[in-house]
Amino acid sequence: MKKVILDVDTGIDDALAISYAVAQPNIEILGITTTYGMAPVEYTCRNTKYILKVLNKDVPVYEGATTPEKRIRVYNGRIHGNDGLGNTLGHVEKIEKSTLEAVEFIIDSTKKYNRDLTIITTGPLTNLARAVNRAPEIMHSIGKIVTMGGAVATPGNVSKFAEANILIDPESADFVFKSNLPITLVGLDVTRKTLLTQDNIEKWKQLGTPSARFFTKFAQYYLDAYGEMHPHLKGCALHDPLAVGVGLYPELVQTVPMRIEVDLSEEALGRTVEDLNIAEEEKPNVSVCLQVDSNAFMEDFFTKVNHMLSIDTSERV
Ligand code: BDR
Ligand code: CA
Repeated sequence: MKKVILDVDTGIDDALAISYAVAQPNIEILGITTTYGMAPVEYTCRNTKYILKVLNKDVPVYEGATTPEKRIRVYNGRIHGNDGLGNTLGHVEKIEKSTLEAVEFIIDSTKKYNRDLTIITTGPLTNLARAVNRAPEIMHSIGKIVTMGGAVATPGNVSKFAEANILIDPESADFVFKSNLPITLVGLDVTRKTLLTQDNIEKWKQLGTPSARFFTKFAQYYLDAYGEMHPHLKGCALHDPLAVGVGLYPELVQTVPMRIEVDLSEEALGRTVEDLNIAEEEKPNVSVCLQVDSNAFMEDFFTKVNHMLSIDTSERV
């Protein structure tokens, strides 16, 4: 059975990615590591635990990075709300610390499972960069890394050039890409083609279970935010769920091997660019997803998530 770690900054679409992952029959989720990103880490950690509780799934959650390596993170709550989940859960009072922290858990798991382990990241790459920095040899034994991030042949979403997960901690992203790990990049090139629409939310409403009601609330926040920012899309992007989809069903996408760098200049900070002048000894370092079978992915995503939301877990919430 495939062993998986999710590294998340929960975040509305991270919450949907977690739901999609825990709905899969044939994988073992060893744990979920959290990072600051769409909200401070105590929020993303709380949100992750809450989603698991709502869905009645027991998966260990490990708290990770609180800040980017060299930058200051300023939160605005525009897309995910001030609490990261569309203002459904509000302020975090206090959080129980996990016994093992995220980076340690990633390294220990890689040491144990090496090629059998897949890490799927859906937030800034700070935790992963720290793991590679701390234990490069161990981390090079990993099977696969699937990263939601970047915009290679399409405009960015937080600047003209950059995608959010990369721009938030560009130094960590650049370091991870330069580490020659087996990375598949699931960027805006493909994630903007997979959408959640008002019709999907209406179906959740009709399910009538407590979990479906909760999902309806935070998904509506995300859809409304997208409606204001990208009215032409008629939906909100399933960025992070697609990363899970690609991690489990690589045939959903077509990839091109490229040598990807992160632009660290102020004019194009966070841009993921292909280096076309690579020296002979350098190799492509990333498989970049450029095409996706959106229908196949959305069909699988909604079938599995809708089924899970139709199960009444009221006593757990
Ligand atoms: C990424 O940034 C966040 O808004 C989402 O959760 C996703 O991981 C998309 O750019
Ligand atoms: Ca995310």
